[in-house]
Amino acid sequence: MNTLPTIPADRLPALLRAMPKAELHMHIEGSLEPELIFALARRNGVAIPYASVDELRRAYAFTNLQSFLDIYYAGASVLLKEQDFYDMAWAYLLRAQADNVLHTEMFFDPQTHTARGVAMDTVVNGLHRACVDAREKLGVSASLILCFLRHLSEEDAFATLEQALPLRDKFIGVGLDSSEVGHPPEKFARVFARCRALGLHLVAHAGEEGPPEYVWTALDVLKVERVDHGVQSSKDPALMRRLAQDRIPLTVCPLSNLKLCVFPSLAQHNLGALLDAGLMATVNSDDPAYFGGYVNENFTQTFAATGLTARHAYMLARNSFEASFVDAGTRRGFVDRLDACLASFA
Ligand code: ADE
Ligand code: ZN
Repeated sequence: MNTLPTIPADRLPALLRAMPKAELHMHIEGSLEPELIFALARRNGVAIPYASVDELRRAYAFTNLQSFLDIYYAGASVLLKEQDFYDMAWAYLLRAQADNVLHTEMFFDPQTHTARGVAMDTVVNGLHRACVDAREKLGVSASLILCFLRHLSEEDAFATLEQALPLRDKFIGVGLDSSEVGHPPEKFARVFARCRALGLHLVAHAGEEGPPEYVWTALDVLKVERVDHGVQSSKDPALMRRLAQDRIPLTVCPLSNLKLCVFPSLAQHNLGALLDAGLMATVNSDDPAYFGGYVNENFTQTFAATGLTARHAYMLARNSFEASFVDAGTRRGFVDRLDACLASFA
């Protein structure tokens, strides 16, 4: 779209909700709502240390990334059977459809499950079946990215990759998540090199809580195609120039950053500064069941707090398609639908 139609400011929240978008940074285990955690715990006879849904929700008061991860891994302990993984993913995909998400690339953390004795097949087949059904029944395109847990060893990541390779056609890439500080990207240099040789897409969390140096090494050592979060990059002008010049996408998650105290308020979030510096930022939900909202809530709350405009909205939605791992024809179709939506708001 060459010239953006004029969209009245009072129509901006409706535009944010209606515009077609891709979601590129969400952890499927982070979409487990407390109600589903309790239902699965009952179904599987798993004990959880909370008396009620309300008590569990009250525990969602985080001070940093680690305080969240402790509860997030405990929540995932109710997932045992293939149907559990299907039900979790299906619930998210229904919410994604409601938010006009045309395409989603969902992270999953196999080590969280295989360490408890759940088979890799169980995890991947349950999630993948939900992706197949989403396309057929919801018209939502969905794919999977396998994340290595960075607080574990590279040896453990290699063993996980070996277990997953028989299911290679059911995931499109690998990522790196969990506790960032003290676990720099270069710890996983060899396993990422192997994944690259296998033709997998590469992404990594970097610059969420960790320093700009971790974004540099995610790019230069791991050779990632996208940086997850990356918000600490604004502390390093040379890194900002590199990200802009090479059009490296950042998958930003504003409500996550707020709930994990990365920024003191949404008004002080640097999403607008990243866009205005020419970076290819996108908006995503990260762990929507824990951080107070799915992707549209991330858009509407952030725009209300920061005064971003319809021009920013278009850039963010367009970036989400440009940064996705779909083929060129599919991408063009998504952008055409975005442009038609904008035109209908003029
Ligand atoms: N795993 C789930 N959510 C995460 C986040 N925001 N950062 C790192 N690892 C995660
Ligand atoms: Zn994340």
